[in-house]
Amino acid sequence: MYDASKIVVGLAVFVVLATSPLWYNALSSASPAAPELSQPTNGSTECVEETAFMRANHMDLLDQWRDTVVRDDVRTYTSEMSGKTYTMSLSDTCLDCHSKKDQFCDACHTYSAVDPYCWTCHVVPEEAQ
Ligand code: HEC
Ligand code: HEC
Ligand code: HEC
Repeated sequence: MYDASKIVVGLAVFVVLATSPLWYNALSSASPAAPELSQPTNGSTECVEETAFMRANHMDLLDQWRDTVVRDDVRTYTSEMSGKTYTMSLSDTCLDCHSKKDQFCDACHTYSAVDPYCWTCHVVPEEAQ
């Protein structure tokens, strides 16, 4: 003999547990709030290129900078946005403006679950640590 009500309860518990990842995600608001990013401390109000471009493409720009420096020994970059020139340097240029690395690069990378390996070689300036 079997107890139908126990089977129904058992099935109900099973269905709820088996689908829990689905409704758990639906209930917990989709993703945590994006981090607050620090503004440059040196008074600069613009990046080397448009902010939206930088947000999407800074990794490619850094690759391009590295290749240009290492392969071509050219160290000056001319902004397509402003025509201003910058020294192509991760530590001396990017971190000169984004001097609070932990509240800028790191904050966003932690949020996005990326961990660039650059800092095993490239020095983080004292004031940007
Ligand atoms: C001359 C100062 C300066 C330099 C040099 C600079 N930045 Fe920026 N950057 C800024 C400012 C100011 C903003 C924010 C502009 C805004 O709020 O619209 C910004 C925005 C950004 C953003 C977008 C942030 C967001 O709100 O989504 C990224 C990513 C970024 N910079 C990365 C870099 C990298 C990588 C480098 C080096 C290749 C670099 N920056 C060099 C001043 C600079
Ligand atoms: C607005 C958010 C944001 C900010 C601010 C930001 N990053 Fe990123 N960064 C990302 C995201 C997202 C990725 C991963 C993109 C991908 O994988 O396509 C990334 C990837 C990178 C990569 C490539 C890593 C890899 O393993 O491919 C480098 C290098 C990098 N960021 C450097 C920097 C530096 C240096 C700064 C500060 C000057 C900075 N980022 C600021 C969001 C940000
Ligand atoms: C194994 C060590 C090593 C790692 C890891 C490394 N680099 Fe470099 N990088 C170098 C060396 C060496 C140079 C040449 C330095 C020079 O000529 O000034 C260089 C030059 C550069 C330059 C141009 C010059 C400068 O001072 O910034 C950029 C930009 C750069 N790398 C970006 C990156 C980025 C972005 C990452 C991480 C995705 C990275 N590098 C990881 C060793 C490294």
